[in-house]
Amino acid sequence: MLTSSLQLDTLPTLQIDVIRQVTTCQTIEALEALRVEILGRSGQLTLLKRNLKDVSPEERPAVGQALNAVSQAIETALTEKKTQLEQAALTEKLRTETIDVTLPGLPSVVGKRHPLTLVIDDICSVFEGMGYSVLDDNACPEVETEFYNFEALNFPEDHPARDMQDTYYTEVAKNVLLRSQTSNAQIRYMSAQKTPPFKVVAPGRVYRNEEVSSRKYVLFHQIEGLYVAENVTFADLKGTLNTFIAQLFGGSPRKTRFRPSFFPFTEPSAEVDVECLFCGGDGCKVCGHSGWLEILGAGMVHPNVLENCGIDSEKYTGFAFGMGVERLAMLRDAIDDIRIFYNNDQRFLKQFNPAY
Ligand code: DAH
Repeated sequence: MLTSSLQLDTLPTLQIDVIRQVTTCQTIEALEALRVEILGRSGQLTLLKRNLKDVSPEERPAVGQALNAVSQAIETALTEKKTQLEQAALTEKLRTETIDVTLPGLPSVVGKRHPLTLVIDDICSVFEGMGYSVLDDNACPEVETEFYNFEALNFPEDHPARDMQDTYYTEVAKNVLLRSQTSNAQIRYMSAQKTPPFKVVAPGRVYRNEEVSSRKYVLFHQIEGLYVAENVTFADLKGTLNTFIAQLFGGSPRKTRFRPSFFPFTEPSAEVDVECLFCGGDGCKVCGHSGWLEILGAGMVHPNVLENCGIDSEKYTGFAFGMGVERLAMLRDAIDDIRIFYNNDQRFLKQFNPAY
């Protein structure tokens, strides 16, 4: 037990001693350790304060006051030192972390648009120039039902026309597939809008279970076009596609040929060829010596398709067309292997769009 006289005698020395230690502390950690040693739960001064109850009642006030005065002096010293050390640490940090503005900067690599995106954008802007709206490429699902991919497009169930496109079915449900054509956009758009005129193009990705080769890949892109209004004729279709083909391939008119064909959702249907871009029609390897390159499929929208979307086929007529983006990109930029679009080879990708 402490006696009051002993406590009072030792306090000044304790204060001096502790404050000296405080002033010589070099780090915030050392200062904190010292604080705990003196003022912490089992610190020297704390213990002394705790023993105050053993001091005789007469002397207690004086001893108590003296203890408080010492602990306050020590606390003040600790606080001042802490501020000083923190300030010093900050100054040191600022000194050592200065930025050398003369160092060369890190180059920031800016990505480029993919060649397929470039071709899609070019094609869409030609149609925009003719008053078409471009549907967002996620406006129509790629995971689609048979209804939108086939049935509503006038492909009867079990009709061999469904086999023209080797379709991936999912395991989600019997009728859920990866769309094999962007023609689902026709159905989705028309049944949502209901009232013509419609004038849209819909770019997007499609899937087919093809054996991969330099010409075929299991996924590719198409652009679907649709124009429905009163009195739309096959002549409108021809004019539109001839204008488009001329603009896509350099601006001057190109010879085209509309060959009769079959698609369940158009009647009549045609496949459209352009005079070979490489030999001008004389015949070469690219056009298989025919002088023609097939560019797209098209036709007048079948009345059944209009009716399936709730549109009066007596009042309205329209045309539709669909084209493969990879094929057009390959023709336009003389690319001889479709797989190169998908293997992310920088040497290939870098050749496009150098301004970006
Ligand atoms: N969907 C067809 C295909 O993938 C392409 C096509 C042909 C689309 C004629 C059309 C069209 O809109 O009218 O083979």
